[in-house]
Amino acid sequence: MLEVESLNQYYGGSHILRDVRMTVPEGKLTVLLGRNGVGKTTLLRCLMGVVPTKSGTISWRGAKISSMPTHKRVASGLAYVPQGRDIFGRLTVEENLIVGAASRKAPSKVPDRIYELFPVLRDMKNRRGGDLSGGQQQQLAIGRALMSEPQLLILDEPTEGIQPSIIQDIGRTLRQLVEDMGMTVLLVEQYYDFARELADRYWVMSRGEIVAGGAGSEMEAHGVRELIAV
Ligand SMILES: Nc1ncnc2c1ncn2[C@@H]1O[C@H](COP(=O)(O)OP(=O)(O)O)[C@@H](O)[C@H]1O
Ligand SMILES: [Mg+2]
Repeated sequence: MLEVESLNQYYGGSHILRDVRMTVPEGKLTVLLGRNGVGKTTLLRCLMGVVPTKSGTISWRGAKISSMPTHKRVASGLAYVPQGRDIFGRLTVEENLIVGAASRKAPSKVPDRIYELFPVLRDMKNRRGGDLSGGQQQQLAIGRALMSEPQLLILDEPTEGIQPSIIQDIGRTLRQLVEDMGMTVLLVEQYYDFARELADRYWVMSRGEIVAGGAGSEMEAHGVRELIAV
């Protein structure tokens, strides 16, 4: 399990994350919901070590990772699909995928399982990343993260700016990763219906604090839709 304890983060003088406490159980899909600007992306950056944390601890499978550099967190099983996808527009689809394996020793070849999860990436493997639709780029970003064979996949708003049919495909793929491959998923979302459909567990963040949490099946009863409505 991933465990976050009393995490605090600042940008200049602004206190962005306030004593964040959160757990992400293994083999489940956990969603973190919250309006724009509440600190969701900042929390994910802290989890990956992209920004240092001021105070608090992050543990993964019992080991403290909060002072590890990002590449060591990746080596210990974490992978990250950033908000906005960050695809290399001038590299081909296949090259974008291989970049995701750069931290590993062997593969300079894309394993079949990635193309089985996202057949569209096989069809388009020689196209430039920049020529793909937003939804295809999102699938590519997820495929790239899976190249490091993670145990914990962290995604930041994968549905942002994507057409509904691909959103459904992405949802199915995430459930498949959890149910068939035993992966742990932490999904940051603002799209309530998508989150509700997928979540085993949920957390809600507001102004840098965790303000609610529980089982996915309780989201409706706990009024989460209203908590994140704009
Ligand atoms: N690099 C940065 N420097 C200064 N302030 C930032 C930076 N990144 C984000 N912020 C601020 O931190 C707060 C949280 O941002 P963010 O974590 O991106 O929220 P969310 O992902 O929930 O929309 C916002 O008020 C945002 O303006
Ligand atoms: Mg964000």
